[in-house]
Amino acid sequence: MEATSLLAQLHAPLLSLLHVGLSHMTQPIGWVVDVAAGTGEKLPLLRSVFGPDVPIVELDIERAVFATPTRLGVVGDAQALPFRSNSCAAGCCIASLGLFGEPLLALAEMERILRPGGEALVLTSASLWAQTIPWPLDVAQELAHRYIDALDAGAQPLAASSDLAGPLTEQMERANFTPLVRAFWLDRLPKADASVVPELASMRFDCVMAELPLLPWPPLRELLAPQLSSKVLHLCDNLAEEPQIEPCLLGLLAVGRKRR
Ligand SMILES: C[S@@+](CC[C@H](N)C(=O)[O-])C[C@H]1O[C@@H](n2cnc3c(N)ncnc32)[C@H](O)[C@@H]1O
Repeated sequence: MEATSLLAQLHAPLLSLLHVGLSHMTQPIGWVVDVAAGTGEKLPLLRSVFGPDVPIVELDIERAVFATPTRLGVVGDAQALPFRSNSCAAGCCIASLGLFGEPLLALAEMERILRPGGEALVLTSASLWAQTIPWPLDVAQELAHRYIDALDAGAQPLAASSDLAGPLTEQMERANFTPLVRAFWLDRLPKADASVVPELASMRFDCVMAELPLLPWPPLRELLAPQLSSKVLHLCDNLAEEPQIEPCLLGLLAVGRKRR
């Protein structure tokens, strides 16, 4: 298999997760930075979500990644961003935080260049032993539909348990963000094609299905109880009492607002 198609396969589940994450961000007014942008696999999606009026500046430490002339590429280090403080409306850092020698410094740099209230999206992965709830398919589908209904009605997404989200949450808080970190089972995520911007609706259900087994039941129960029958609630209470512990490759999605 060619290196480029292998890379596309590796990043396919991240694209759908990125789409879900971007849908929870406020529309930026001003320019956006993509830190460690690589060869620009995520650019069509970023352009499509942010729209034609939002300039997207891509930064990478490798000059060679900016071969395409249509990109606003800047060569630089994520840990010493060559941009003015308080100048940028939003930022993202995808599949790269773990590559930096000092990830906290990279987050602090992102925070420095963002305007007060600006948002950062960080997408990374982790391999962990996780507590999971093995929802039967029909129950999981019902929970996923109800959870999406609640999000559409204005509820905030639920944070992953601190076992999974804790380290990234702490790093973002130390960098002066107010983060919300969600965890998804990476190999259960829908795979999107970088050359075709996927429909959000088609991605979202499958992403939630990849998130549900990892979500702590008490806050999910509190959110969904008004929508579930007492029979389903009782069944869920029983299932949640028998979690499993298993090794998981996780996609971690953090969206954090710069504190004022
Ligand atoms: C796995 S690729 C991810 C690329 C892109 N974000 C994506 O999702 O397709 C990691 C990128 O990080 C860049 N990188 C590594 N260390 C960096 C640093 N200190 N500052 C800026 N970019 C860096 C690499 O050159 C590479 O392009």
